[in-house]
Amino acid sequence: MDRPNIGLSLLLSLLLCNFIIDLEASQQDVNQPYRTGYHFQPLRNWMNGMYRPMIYKGIYHLFYQYNPYGAVWDVRIVWGHSTSTDLVNWTPQPPAFNPSQPSDINGCWSGSVTILPNGTPVILYTGIDQNKSQVQNVAVPVNISDPYLREWSKSPGNPLMAPNAVNGINPDRFRDPTTAWLGRDGEWRVIVGSSTDDRRGLAILYKSRDFFNWTQSIKPLHYEDLTGMWECPDFFPVPITGSDGVETSSFGEVKHVLKVSLFETLHDYYTIGSYDREKDVYVPDLGFVQNGSAPRLDYGKYYASKTFFDDVKKRRILWGWVNESSPAKSDIEKGWSGLQSFPRKIWLDESGKELLQWPIEEIETLRVTQAKWHNKVIRAGSTIQVHGVSAAQADVEVSFKVKELEKADVIEPSWTDPQKICSQEDLSVKSGLGPFGLMVLASNDMEEYTSVYFRIFKSNDTNKNTNYVVLMCSDQSRSSLNEKNDKTTFGAFVAIDPSHQTLSLRTLIDHSIVESYGGGGKVCITSRVYPKLAIGESANLFVFNKGTQSVDVLSLSAWSLKSAHINDDSLSPSIECHDSNSLDQS
Ligand SMILES: *[C@@H]1O[C@H](CO)[C@@H](O)[C@H](O)[C@H]1NC(C)=O
Ligand SMILES: *[C@@H]1O[C@H](CO)[C@@H](O)[C@H](O)[C@H]1NC(C)=O
Ligand SMILES: *[C@@H]1O[C@H](CO)[C@@H](O)[C@H](O)[C@H]1NC(C)=O
Ligand SMILES: *[C@@H]1O[C@H](CO)[C@@H](O)[C@H](O)[C@H]1NC(C)=O
Ligand SMILES: *[C@@H]1O[C@H](CO)[C@@H](O)[C@H](O)[C@H]1NC(C)=O
Ligand SMILES: *[C@@H]1O[C@H](CO)[C@@H](O)[C@H](O)[C@H]1NC(C)=O
Repeated sequence: MDRPNIGLSLLLSLLLCNFIIDLEASQQDVNQPYRTGYHFQPLRNWMNGMYRPMIYKGIYHLFYQYNPYGAVWDVRIVWGHSTSTDLVNWTPQPPAFNPSQPSDINGCWSGSVTILPNGTPVILYTGIDQNKSQVQNVAVPVNISDPYLREWSKSPGNPLMAPNAVNGINPDRFRDPTTAWLGRDGEWRVIVGSSTDDRRGLAILYKSRDFFNWTQSIKPLHYEDLTGMWECPDFFPVPITGSDGVETSSFGEVKHVLKVSLFETLHDYYTIGSYDREKDVYVPDLGFVQNGSAPRLDYGKYYASKTFFDDVKKRRILWGWVNESSPAKSDIEKGWSGLQSFPRKIWLDESGKELLQWPIEEIETLRVTQAKWHNKVIRAGSTIQVHGVSAAQADVEVSFKVKELEKADVIEPSWTDPQKICSQEDLSVKSGLGPFGLMVLASNDMEEYTSVYFRIFKSNDTNKNTNYVVLMCSDQSRSSLNEKNDKTTFGAFVAIDPSHQTLSLRTLIDHSIVESYGGGGKVCITSRVYPKLAIGESANLFVFNKGTQSVDVLSLSAWSLKSAHINDDSLSPSIECHDSNSLDQS
């Protein structure tokens, strides 16, 4: 590189340093009270899900759908890219690729990473071609020695999979290839989401010997009538025992999970079942419940989620996209839209009937001060403040014990929809047991708060193996004085027996996101809130019990969390304030 460019690099470096200083100041910016401290988001602009995580040479990569031009979705969406060594702090990288070929000239949509047996990662992704048809393409790293995988190149052989009259696939409903897996016969398999004109949702199966020449199988891996378009399918094995994860092609003692994002409801549903490797079909143990009672990865705002296997820590990690609840106008004003949930470890519950999720342990590196309670009685009607934590950016774990279970009300037989119960019976409605739980992001005078709580009912369904029904709610109706936001209340039943098990709740609070884990990760509910008063130092945290009986807090730990470095450029390997040489290669 010649002299004038080095001068330019220096100038650029100085400008960047100023920029970083400005940015640090702006983190306390009163005009940005909703930016998060430890949830993944780009520095600015729009992000949606359908991003693809992986680990390569010890570096975690997250690819996400990013609009470099503004805070709303745009057809010119690109593959945003960030890297991390700990899944907590993230460095921005240049977009992995943009629309450039006839087979993706109208958009580079979602896809997945597969690590080939020789260790090389490849990306299969959906392109929108010249004819606005959805097709599947491949991209490979330009330099596999670069752990940051900054440059990707697309195959001139794209598209690898295209819809046509022969295979009967609708060109508008053919997208989101999964991570591929290898069969014993040495052939790769991958599924692509689709649906028929009469709303049969499909996981179309493709096979290949060499990863480039793909042939559609006659039978889909799985389908389900009347479910509509399946977006972002994810298909992965989970060991029958223990909480470790396994590699996607694993043949061990496993069950399989098929997750689909239903375009018609914008929720992520999963089934657990068996993968018949001879017939190449997946059979869910309990079928796919179509009436809205299928298990969901999250009962709040959460879509287009995706897992990957972390072979360093032998765990499977789940990410999900959490969109805004504010009008697009507000998103444009604040200059950004969309978060990722905090990464969650995911594994099979010992019952074999549900998945468990838990924030990855790396969150503990952010913990600073801690408030602790032990064996505290929360009397009926009381609200007790948790002092000593920064309540706008915190990690709270609480476990409850309820002694007088016989005081629980009998659940109405018609109450089968938990979200509806949570919406109809707000905090002012006392039950025998509950509501009790946490009030987060509460203003000093309680004009604003978000409540995450339980109610326990007696079941009169003698077929159930527990006598109780535990309801978990996340109620946003009082979360902000601003009336323009979506404040939908969420709810779910938690399959635990309070006569034998303690009832736990963990809530991650981060300015405008509240992510809650009930019953040790059996149920997750994520919500977005935009308080006007309960911001920064003015946010408070309470434990409350508005039921008619007292409940015990067996233990409570609440930690203030410090901010992570997330896409703020300060960790970028190519941008060092005190080393202008590092820019010479640019
Ligand atoms: C677009 O459609 C035309 C006519 O059907 C076809 O000849 C052409 O190959 C298609 N282009 C792509 C990129 O698939
Ligand atoms: C590939 O990446 C490695 C590691 O970052 C680097 O040393 C090497 O110069 C790169 N090769 C090319 C051709 O850019
Ligand atoms: C692609 O694979 C199919 C099925 O294995 C085979 O019939 C076909 O000849 C292959 N095409 C090429 C170009 O290799
Ligand atoms: C949904 O279907 C399942 C299985 O068919 C049934 O057990 C459940 O009661 C139904 N739920 C509703 C809300 O209709
Ligand atoms: C995003 O949020 C809005 C408003 O809260 C909601 O109506 C919409 O369904 C969400 N979209 C997705 C994909 O989750
Ligand atoms: C369940 O309880 C409801 C109302 O509390 C009652 O009407 C119904 O008969 C009960 N059902 C059974 C099977 O006991």
